[in-house]
Amino acid sequence: MSDQPIGVVGAGTMGQGIAQVAVASGFSVHLYDVADEQLSRAEANIDKGLGKLVAKDKISEADKAAALSRLSTTTTLDALNDCAVIIEAAPEQPELKEKLFRDLSRLSSTTILASNTSSLSLTRLAAVCEHPERVVGMHFFNPVPVLKLVEVIRAEQTSDATVAEIETLAKALGKTAVPVGDAPGFAVNRLMVPMINEAAFIVQEGTATPEAVDDAMKLGAAHPMGPLALADLIGLDVCLAIMEVLQEGFGDPKYRPCPLLKRMVSAGYLGRKSGRGFYVYE
Ligand SMILES: NC(=O)c1ccc[n+]([C@@H]2O[C@H](COP(=O)([O-])OP(=O)(O)OC[C@H]3O[C@@H](n4cnc5c(N)ncnc54)[C@H](O)[C@@H]3O)[C@@H](O)[C@H]2O)c1
Repeated sequence: MSDQPIGVVGAGTMGQGIAQVAVASGFSVHLYDVADEQLSRAEANIDKGLGKLVAKDKISEADKAAALSRLSTTTTLDALNDCAVIIEAAPEQPELKEKLFRDLSRLSSTTILASNTSSLSLTRLAAVCEHPERVVGMHFFNPVPVLKLVEVIRAEQTSDATVAEIETLAKALGKTAVPVGDAPGFAVNRLMVPMINEAAFIVQEGTATPEAVDDAMKLGAAHPMGPLALADLIGLDVCLAIMEVLQEGFGDPKYRPCPLLKRMVSAGYLGRKSGRGFYVYE
């Protein structure tokens, strides 16, 4: 597989991380985006990310130069037609992803199409493709160069061979693949985001302050970070969107988004990215 390039679609937060890890692991990468300036930003950030590894003596300057030489950028989808695997990390919009998958599935009859979606149904994405058995979820976690997990999500149509190839690829990228079915929130978000939502209920009801909730979970449950500091890092809008996906997908009232979370999102208190969430950031 490593003789053929990997395609990465979308050069934002996740696409940059995936491309960085892939070139550092010896793969050639074609990084595609609709925006030229985003590709320039991605190249600069990947250079910086690899630079940090050099500073920590994890790779040499020569390794960094070799990794960067394996990265090419493009705004032409056709340039991905020689890829063994294309990993899509475009915005979380169902219509945008469906159009992309339809177009990507026409490029080659052998390419595996993997989506990094956090919440959309892989089965629905596979259904718009010419070779649905080659569609799979490959859910990386942010920051990609640091976090080891990849949830491998099997759509109804995904073949065993596709799952096996993606598990092999995850391993070659230094990640640990965990198989998960195509259900809302997969495994991690289904567990983690309702915990954040419950923490918001605790604050809303005046049972404890955000600091107290976070201290309690760090000291009493050995979480490296409290749930509300984590919510600020993820983005409260993203947490709310995931709760809505769980509520709609399962139709179960236990996934009701906390009204405080909704009010904070409406107010623009989105966490670190807006300077204010459960905490205030300078
Ligand atoms: N950010 C996270 O913590 C995180 C974690 C896991 C999964 N995800 C998932 O990864 C995907 C990408 O998220 P992100 O945070 O990197 O988003 P982002 O907004 O940082 O990046 C998206 C990129 O896609 C590009 N883009 C827009 N339209 C496009 C198109 N038609 N074709 C190709 N590229 C296009 C944008 O220019 C941008 O560079 C989403 O599906 C998201 O749910 C995000």
